[in-house]
Amino acid sequence: MNLRESFNIGKLNIHVFLFAFIWICCNSLYAQERMIDLPISLYSDDGDGFVIIAHRGASAYHPENTMIAFRAAYEMGAEMIELDLTLSKDGIPVVIHDETLDRTTTGKGSVSDHTFEELKALDAGSWFSEEHSGEPIPTLQEVLEFAKGKISVNIEIKKEAVTDEAWGGIEQKAWELVKRYEMEDHVLFSSFDYRAVAHLKEINVDIAAALLYEEQQSVNRSPSELVEGYNADAFNCSYRQFSKRWAKDALKVGFPVFVYTVNSKRLMRKMIKRGARGIFSDKPDVLKKVVENLWKSSES
Ligand code: G3P
Ligand code: MG
Repeated sequence: MNLRESFNIGKLNIHVFLFAFIWICCNSLYAQERMIDLPISLYSDDGDGFVIIAHRGASAYHPENTMIAFRAAYEMGAEMIELDLTLSKDGIPVVIHDETLDRTTTGKGSVSDHTFEELKALDAGSWFSEEHSGEPIPTLQEVLEFAKGKISVNIEIKKEAVTDEAWGGIEQKAWELVKRYEMEDHVLFSSFDYRAVAHLKEINVDIAAALLYEEQQSVNRSPSELVEGYNADAFNCSYRQFSKRWAKDALKVGFPVFVYTVNSKRLMRKMIKRGARGIFSDKPDVLKKVVENLWKSSES
């Protein structure tokens, strides 16, 4: 073997070594990331550690935050449904996103100005399509009744329903219902109002709660500083906010990040590769396919 040949073999060896080194580093990082425990259990855990979350139910196909949207999400293979929770005038936890009724129901004005009975009489489906007309606004109780034993739930507590009190408010009412349905291990709470997370932890430190990133309350704190500061179990943010820097920060400290709201396949793949442990999507069926194909291609 001449010098050139041996040099080329040496070069090849160095390349093989470098490739193996990078491959091992990437994989151990990936494995480490996949090993972070989820703060809740999934009923339909397929063991991949990634959570398919139906944002307001399968809301691309059915009116958001309605029973038909939640049922469809379950049938499509979602592992968690996300819902938005607020209180009626008479203090019943009801599922609706906006502070007002105008966009998604036949009613008008603030949700909190209407009693449970008034809210129940409204149509929360016809704004979406004629065939959905008559879909009512669900209560949290109705959703939990359906979800128990089938699908985990992310209860997002709406900012407008949060007060300064930990006890007697929306957080405690929701928690009492979760306990009644024995879903303590299957419910993740979250809120853009960090007081809600603090209140839940005050009520019971074991309640699984995520901070939903909100800039003003965060005052330049990193996700890990926020999670540690509020004793939260997870960090939820928009895909626009989930930078490589944040992904690294979460991985280092070891908490899961759930990213909303992702409906394009390209963005789903990007967020998963970046380290999101779950994605909120209006199209849980699309997300499920993307996830399955990613795992398949990583095996081959
Ligand atoms: O909880 C994730 C996501 O739902 C937060 O935003 O406005 O859709 O409730 P929004
Ligand atoms: Mg929400």
